[in-house]
Amino acid sequence: MFGMNGLPLLRMHPRRTEDNGRGGELARPDSDGDGDRRLGGPDRRRMDAPGTTSIRIAAVGDIHCGVEDAGLYREAFLRANAEADVLVLTGDLTRHGLSAEMRVVVGELHDVKIPVVAVLGNHDYEAGEQDEGSTILRGRGIHVLQGDTFLLNEHVGFAGVKGFMGGFGRGTLTAFGEAQTKAFVATALDEVRKLESALRELATPVRVVVLHYAPIAGTVMGEPEVIFPFLGTDRLAEPLDRFQASVVFHGHAHSGSFRGQTAGGVPVFNVALPILRRENSGDSYYLHNVPIERTPASAR
Ligand SMILES: [Fe+2]
Ligand SMILES: [Fe+2]
Repeated sequence: MFGMNGLPLLRMHPRRTEDNGRGGELARPDSDGDGDRRLGGPDRRRMDAPGTTSIRIAAVGDIHCGVEDAGLYREAFLRANAEADVLVLTGDLTRHGLSAEMRVVVGELHDVKIPVVAVLGNHDYEAGEQDEGSTILRGRGIHVLQGDTFLLNEHVGFAGVKGFMGGFGRGTLTAFGEAQTKAFVATALDEVRKLESALRELATPVRVVVLHYAPIAGTVMGEPEVIFPFLGTDRLAEPLDRFQASVVFHGHAHSGSFRGQTAGGVPVFNVALPILRRENSGDSYYLHNVPIERTPASAR
């Protein structure tokens, strides 16, 4: 969340295989067709419909790793190898943006064998070491997206930017008045432009977007309304709708809402770790299943 230095770190707990804290409820199949399969139980096998295959995305943000946190996340991330095809990190990987903290993050990801896609968050910029932080992540083979794309395969592509703040709807800050105000809005518009360019590049049938800041007001609901403008901006939503993104993951709004959608119906998930803890009773990432139609070309 914006401006929260030294916030209490939520710990990743070992998975409960028999009881997820809700009386042992099993993972439930997608009930509304949008690919949502919450974590929560021992049965996490693929459940693809006949004639389709799917991509399993594990997503989490706002782990806020400190230098003293080595080992806290390693076991949780290790499980992603079996449960997902790709791990998505939505920024605020560190607490203060220190290179030393990012090295701890890389250590926590050491055992992850599936591809990892990440964006940085505002905390990862705090020490002015964001470029070194990106280099450290890339040195581990992590795909750090800053207006870039990553192709998982011929069916699934990723576009990512950090995004920026600025507000939602009629409350969106406009470029009027002082030069500083115009520069602030220009920063947001530059992130929108980078997202637009990345999405334009993606020709895959499944287009996954990774952000740190929220692109809709729906997933910041639950936060104090006075800080909504600092949690994101729906300027980011326009390219999501225009290029018909398949699904969007973001973080930053620690007390926001887990699920929302753009005006055009693109599903948006706020996967900030505190929200996953609240929604999933202690699990460490959100698993999202995106079906891929087995067209003649994709069935090769
Ligand atoms: Fe955060
Ligand atoms: Fe943040």
